[in-house]
Amino acid sequence: MSSTHAGSTAASGKPILKSVPRLSLRENLAAVSAIRRDQLEFMQNAVRNHGDIFHMRLGGLPMIMVNHPDHFQRVLVDNHPNYDKDNFLYRAVRSVLREGLIGNIGGESWRHHRRLMQPSFHRSRVADFVVNITDLTAELFRRWESQLYVDDLVDVTTEIADLALRIVLRSLFGVDMDERSRKFAEEFVEVNTIVGDFFRFPFPPLSWRTPSRNRLRTLIKEMDGFVSHLIQARTSDDSERNDLFTRLLNARDAKTGTGLTPGQLANEILAMIVAGYETSSNSISWIFYQLAEHQEIQRRVQDEVDDVLGGRPPTFDDLPKLTYTGMVIDETLRLFTPAWHTMRHAIEEDVIGGYHIPKGSNIYLNLFIYHRHPDFWPEPTRFNPERFSPEEVAKRPRNLYQPYGSGPRLCIGKHFAQAELLIMAAMFAQTFHVTRPQGQPPVGFAPLITLHPKGGIHLRLRRR
Ligand code: HEM
Repeated sequence: MSSTHAGSTAASGKPILKSVPRLSLRENLAAVSAIRRDQLEFMQNAVRNHGDIFHMRLGGLPMIMVNHPDHFQRVLVDNHPNYDKDNFLYRAVRSVLREGLIGNIGGESWRHHRRLMQPSFHRSRVADFVVNITDLTAELFRRWESQLYVDDLVDVTTEIADLALRIVLRSLFGVDMDERSRKFAEEFVEVNTIVGDFFRFPFPPLSWRTPSRNRLRTLIKEMDGFVSHLIQARTSDDSERNDLFTRLLNARDAKTGTGLTPGQLANEILAMIVAGYETSSNSISWIFYQLAEHQEIQRRVQDEVDDVLGGRPPTFDDLPKLTYTGMVIDETLRLFTPAWHTMRHAIEEDVIGGYHIPKGSNIYLNLFIYHRHPDFWPEPTRFNPERFSPEEVAKRPRNLYQPYGSGPRLCIGKHFAQAELLIMAAMFAQTFHVTRPQGQPPVGFAPLITLHPKGGIHLRLRRR
């Protein structure tokens, strides 16, 4: 399916713009139950039947799905100032994370906050975080090792979520949390489920007083309490530091000279904590699961890790040498991309792939479907790390693969996450051999705000 930005030309010399194809009323009605049954399957069928761009209604809410590299390029990169996050997906996200960076609509306030936070994610800062990652990971793996004598079945998803949260808290905010961090992670799983369900069926509104909406309010209050505790722990500690917390606290607006209000500070911290641990921990769960599913691939990772590290923990300089492990991670993020969908709102009308996009349209970008596009990925559902060998990567347009997004709103934590995933995968392969428990069916997807393994990932570990 090809796509260009100019349509054919009329006698007047003006390009003729095509209208975006629409799902019929019958299809939109059928979509309501199909999406509730299996949202990913519904999207996959819709793309198969209607191509790379079409208009549909999700629970009555109109949106234009785009699924071609040129479309992604237009929306996220080439004409990005025309697309903000003033849309219903991010309104739902903002009900929890408020105006923090991830849900920020865009424009000047986003630019100011992004500039403020960017230095905490430079490569040099990420190198400083490596020791937090290796220390905390080693601590968890030691605990797993000691438990193996009693029970070799590990609840990977829950344990790794707690680990990833501890890593973010120590690296970005300089605090070590007790059991509160585990509770926070559990609360967010519930929030993610309620808001994810809402996106599938956006009724009743989140502001209504139903049991699930009341529960959401309670959970948000508890997560806010966690952030207040963190702020209190940091403000009562007067040692000098140069981390994200200090930057946020000392931030001043260039024009007005004012800092963040206490509310804005809390919002930024909450958003950064959630964005920083949730996607990484899901990715790690899926990576360990893939190792269990593909024993030959697991052995190659173990061999590489043994060769490069010889039994010691990885350092920042080791990371580029773990090439095969990196390919396994890339392939996992292709098929199980945790930030699996996003949305933009067209501020003004535009043209995408020769189609007229009316002002105010919601543009839906689904990375799960995009990363499985059969025109660009041969045997798209097969797990094959060789797709990420340097030769194969060089053959593909860069924007075909974008688990961290693209354009100015590219994931700020990309380098952090890449280091974290590589270190955890390498240390895991160094220490354990993993299998899927006999009789346990393959793990399915729970497409919440982020893509979760349905029911969590539970694996059998053996000390190598
Ligand atoms: C495997 C791990 C991760 C994945 C796959 C991932 C993916 C993404 C994606 C796709 C976006 C762009 C969303 C959009 O354009 O609508 C994004 C944005 C963001 N990510 Fe990540 N992320 C990961 C880890 C992290 C980490 C570790 C942090 C922080 C420590 C982080 C913080 C953020 C923030 C703050 C944004 C919003 C940036 C902005 O709008 O300026 N992420 N992430």
